[in-house]
Amino acid sequence: MLTSKTIDIIKSTVPVLEVHGQAITTTFYEMLFKNHPDLLNIFNHVNQRQGKQPQALANAVYAAALHIDNLEAILPVVKQISEKHRALNIQPEHYPIVGETLLAAMKQVLGDAATPEILNAWAEAYGIIADAFIGVEADMYDAVENISGGWLGFHKFVVDLKVKESDVITSFYLKPQDGKAIATYLPGQYITVRVKPDGEEYTHIRHYSLSTAAGAPSYRITVKKEAAATDKPAGIVSTYLHDSLNEGDIIEVSAPAGTFTLDQSQDIPVVLLSGGVGITPMVSMLETILKEQPNRYVTFIHAAIHGGVHALKEHVEQLDATHSHMKSYLCYELPRENDISHKTGYIDLAWLQQIVSPEADFYFCGPEAFMRAVNHALQELGVPAERIHYEFFGPASSLEA
Ligand code: FAD
Ligand code: HEM
Repeated sequence: MLTSKTIDIIKSTVPVLEVHGQAITTTFYEMLFKNHPDLLNIFNHVNQRQGKQPQALANAVYAAALHIDNLEAILPVVKQISEKHRALNIQPEHYPIVGETLLAAMKQVLGDAATPEILNAWAEAYGIIADAFIGVEADMYDAVENISGGWLGFHKFVVDLKVKESDVITSFYLKPQDGKAIATYLPGQYITVRVKPDGEEYTHIRHYSLSTAAGAPSYRITVKKEAAATDKPAGIVSTYLHDSLNEGDIIEVSAPAGTFTLDQSQDIPVVLLSGGVGITPMVSMLETILKEQPNRYVTFIHAAIHGGVHALKEHVEQLDATHSHMKSYLCYELPRENDISHKTGYIDLAWLQQIVSPEADFYFCGPEAFMRAVNHALQELGVPAERIHYEFFGPASSLEA
């Protein structure tokens, strides 16, 4: 237990640390990778460079510190982060490394302002926060080891089938190399792949949403190739998957994870909105509803640039044609000559008002600008926050800012 004096020190220093938050976590990562280069096999190098991960870590530590005397209050956030940690196979012995490095970074950035009293208080607080994460993650490791078909860490899977879904998106059907059954999952969850492309010094880990309902003998992921452009290099893992991973090849996978899942405890209408490759968790949710909640009305709205980059189009059209409780809509930003869609341009409030009721449950996923626009439109529609659910295809963030 922390003393009330220590709690006071923690709470009074959070605002100071927030001001220097980015500097502290950036210094933290420089120190971490200098002293523990093996961790570069786990962390996403691009997220580090773009500052997204340092920001996410800083926000999480300060949110936890503010609730240090009642960590229960932030349990949903801890669970969401811990799902990613579990998918990455983060272990209890990693926590002291992160704690010591964080304190060293605070000391370096804050200089004399970081008195021994403040540093001691933070060391104690970090210990409590770390224990909370380690406890939640221990339960997750237990659960994944004990469910039928579950496994710990990364297992070898074979690419059973590779299917081109559009000019830029390809699906991979993955089966365990040992021939065993696979663990089931909830619609909206992801699996995590670990690869080491030729010429790369480190392994690279990425999450991919499962793009079908559970129940098949293989997992399907559907991946957009992040091609190189004048201002950016090619995406490491998606390019490797598209260009180098073929049927019969092996890839390492960790068990399904994630808290962005369909609430099937109720029967109210559901609206699934996606932009680009954000369609993947939505198709898993759609198939699950049609299979398991056949009386639940579902509206499927997808936005793509044009038909050439639109994945799983025929599949969704076929589901729409054969299910009376489903209706799908399409929005193309820049349609090609032969593209037929319901709307040209972007999804907007006026259009949504015509096709959905605010009384539904809303789930969405896509590029950040798409998610901000959809979130804003749903708020304007009067949809309460508890019926708005979304997933970032990167470090989790807030759409409120
Ligand atoms: P990275 O190498 O990680 O690069 C990311 C982007 O940054 C690329 O566009 C790259 O061009 C750009 N970049 C790299 N370096 C620079 C630089 N120096 N300057 C400017 N730009 C740069 N993706 C899917 O396709 N399908 C899914 O179903 C899916 N599901 C996901 C689910 C979750 C929960 C999460 C978190 C992510 C999901 N993603 C999905 C995204 C996926 O995990 C990867 O982030 C994506 O494939 C890109 O990885 P990459 O290694 O190819 O690119
Ligand atoms: C991701 C917080 C400890 C490794 C994250 C994220 C947060 C976070 C907020 C982003 C989640 C997201 O992507 O949505 C914390 C906190 C910790 C902690 C508060 C301590 C109490 C650790 C430890 C390790 C670790 C001990 C292992 C060395 C990672 C990795 C990612 C991650 C590899 C994914 C980052 C990426 O690749 O982009 N963590 N973390 N974390 N964490 Fe932690």
